[in-house]
Amino acid sequence: MITLGVIGCGNMARNHMRNAVVMDGVRLHGYADVFPDAATGFLNEFGGAYATADPNDLLADDAIDAVLVSTHHDTHVTLGVAAAQAGKHILMEKPMSMTVPQCDAVVAAVEKAGVRLMTGFKLRFAPLIQEAKRLAPEPFLLVGQMMCNRWPDTLWAVDPVKGGGNILSQGCHTFDLICYLAGSKPVEVFAVGGNYTHENKTYPDNMAGLIRFANGAAASVVQGDAADSTSVSKFFFEVFDNGTSVQLYDRLHRATVSGASVADPGERHAPADADPEGLQQELTEFIHGLNTGAPWAIGADHHAGRRATALAHAFFAAIATGNPQRLT
Ligand SMILES: NC(=O)c1ccc[n+]([C@@H]2O[C@H](COP(=O)([O-])OP(=O)(O)OC[C@H]3O[C@@H](n4cnc5c(N)ncnc54)[C@H](O)[C@@H]3O)[C@@H](O)[C@H]2O)c1
Repeated sequence: MITLGVIGCGNMARNHMRNAVVMDGVRLHGYADVFPDAATGFLNEFGGAYATADPNDLLADDAIDAVLVSTHHDTHVTLGVAAAQAGKHILMEKPMSMTVPQCDAVVAAVEKAGVRLMTGFKLRFAPLIQEAKRLAPEPFLLVGQMMCNRWPDTLWAVDPVKGGGNILSQGCHTFDLICYLAGSKPVEVFAVGGNYTHENKTYPDNMAGLIRFANGAAASVVQGDAADSTSVSKFFFEVFDNGTSVQLYDRLHRATVSGASVADPGERHAPADADPEGLQQELTEFIHGLNTGAPWAIGADHHAGRRATALAHAFFAAIATGNPQRLT
């Protein structure tokens, strides 16, 4: 039984808690939020032992095995390093941290402490993403698009300090998923983009990019908040190998499969009994892996978390310089 503490009692943590309360192998224990009412609200809603305004109370609590960190992005590095130093396993909401040096600090702390960190890239667990991986395990062409309606300027995720904007905040999902589907290491990127929707920000908000993988595979990515696409929805992913293509749309609720190698082409639907976007399955694998010691088969570890942030910054550098960027 894993005893869980929750740091950051906001919208996303609430989604995780709804899954946790009906899950085997996990016990909810402590809640921390800089707004004490938010933590107390979680205690009343989901049960547990206590609520606090100070995350250090959870980190000093020997009863807690693991923490969910679901705060704004600027706090992920401090909380991630402190949680690792306190010997807690970590489910870190995405992005793992805002910059590559911040990610390096978290990676170093996790490895030094010998704890495990999963980055919250739930889309890997979507049933139709798993189906695409089964049907096209070694795609050589990939497409990833995530487009929203314009984010309000008041949204914390748009703030350069707290959030980092759409390309970092949400693009990290797209970049991680493309790498996961490619099954190869990204080695070089290029991108064109800019401040199309939010003026006077310190980072670009919309982009079109290319990724070259170590195995020769190629991907294109489109990321931003120009407008929603009603035909493909917020998420669109597509993979091609030699004889199979899979198109995923309708927020990963539906896919089409086609190509000369496909025995049963046509539409696929996400099963009714599983979360189509994978959040429930993500927490299940996190908890199961900690309870059994088994490696996570799908979940993104700390290296994958760092890689997604590194890709966002490589795209930013390509946009700023007009030059392709090598990844280390
Ligand atoms: N995986 C997904 O699909 C998905 C979707 C939405 C958000 N998220 C991620 O979840 C995280 C939280 O986003 P949200 O939408 O729930 O935000 P939110 O604003 O609803 O909640 C964040 C909470 O963290 C608290 N907080 C901030 N700093 C803190 C600190 N130092 N210590 C303790 N509490 C602190 C805030 O008071 C707030 O209650 C972000 O990393 C975000 O990118 C992931």
